[in-house]
Amino acid sequence: MGNIYQRWNIHHRLQHILLFVSFFILTLTGLPIKYAYSGWAVRATSIFGGFDTMLLIHKVAAAIMIISAIYHLGYLLYCWLVKKQISTATLPTWKDVTDLLDHIVYCFGFTKEDAKFDRYSYKEKFDYWAVFWGIAIMVGSGLMMWFPHITAEFVPRWIMDCAQVAHSDEAMLAIMAVFVWHFYNAHFSPLVFPMSLVWLKGNLNQEEMEEFHPLELEKKAPPVIGSTAAVEGKTSSFRSNPYLIILQMVVYAAILIWFLRSFLPLGLM
Ligand code: HEM
Ligand code: HEM
Repeated sequence: MGNIYQRWNIHHRLQHILLFVSFFILTLTGLPIKYAYSGWAVRATSIFGGFDTMLLIHKVAAAIMIISAIYHLGYLLYCWLVKKQISTATLPTWKDVTDLLDHIVYCFGFTKEDAKFDRYSYKEKFDYWAVFWGIAIMVGSGLMMWFPHITAEFVPRWIMDCAQVAHSDEAMLAIMAVFVWHFYNAHFSPLVFPMSLVWLKGNLNQEEMEEFHPLELEKKAPPVIGSTAAVEGKTSSFRSNPYLIILQMVVYAAILIWFLRSFLPLGLM
């Protein structure tokens, strides 16, 4: 028997859904542009109905990503100016540095005491600020490439070339950060496998709050919206199945090696 806590309200969840849907479409339509010379890119472009259609889809997804960013900033302003609530929970602090070091020592088994995370751990803060920075770069450089005739009226050609390089390389950084870092934390980590459902249901049960946000629970617990008995059937059986965890880690590693080998000129193989 334990409480169910609301971690994310409907606005957090909608902003995140708009963000990841647009991100996936931008990745699927952007990579074939970057690797236009390769066979799979030619096939991918034809699946999207040719380059012009694929670029149009890229721009529509870009508009959705811009809407998700405006929605998020607007929501922060509304909380600050109307609800007079301003949260500093995502701001990096020195404790994030000591948490990272404590967590590494814990993961290597040198201590039984893991770092005690507050509302947002260093992992989640990294997610948040990586996306904040990434969207600024991608929207800025994307708009310059989307409207080259207007951009040319304000900046010299070399700045536009820099925008294309920044867009292309930041795209790879963002894709790697999401598919390696975020997906491990939200999907593939044995602690949440097959997936944390915060993005969909917005809540965490007592056990999960004690695991992921013990300091928040101590300091100021989020609103209680129910109790565990009422929502039996959480995915704990998956998390305690070592064979499934080993299998998913092998699959995850295989996807990672394929991606690194296919997309990044690291000369691994
Ligand atoms: C995280 C989100 C995004 C990803 C992963 C992404 C990915 C890419 C990639 C890989 C390319 C090819 C770059 C190259 O030539 O090497 C590209 C091109 C482009 N992107 Fe994005 N993009 C994103 C967001 C945006 C946004 C927000 C906009 C507009 C505001 C945008 C507009 C464009 C345009 C106009 C091109 C140029 C296409 C051309 O070559 O004519 N992208 N994108
Ligand atoms: C199917 C894909 C995805 C799933 C299942 C997923 C899952 C999640 C979950 C469960 C959280 C809440 C973590 C917490 O309790 O704080 C979260 C947070 C977040 N996600 Fe995703 N995510 C996905 C895709 C993405 C993508 C593509 C992006 C960025 C382009 C993204 C950016 C973020 C950010 C910025 C946060 C807030 C910081 C955090 O709490 O970690 N997510 N995601």
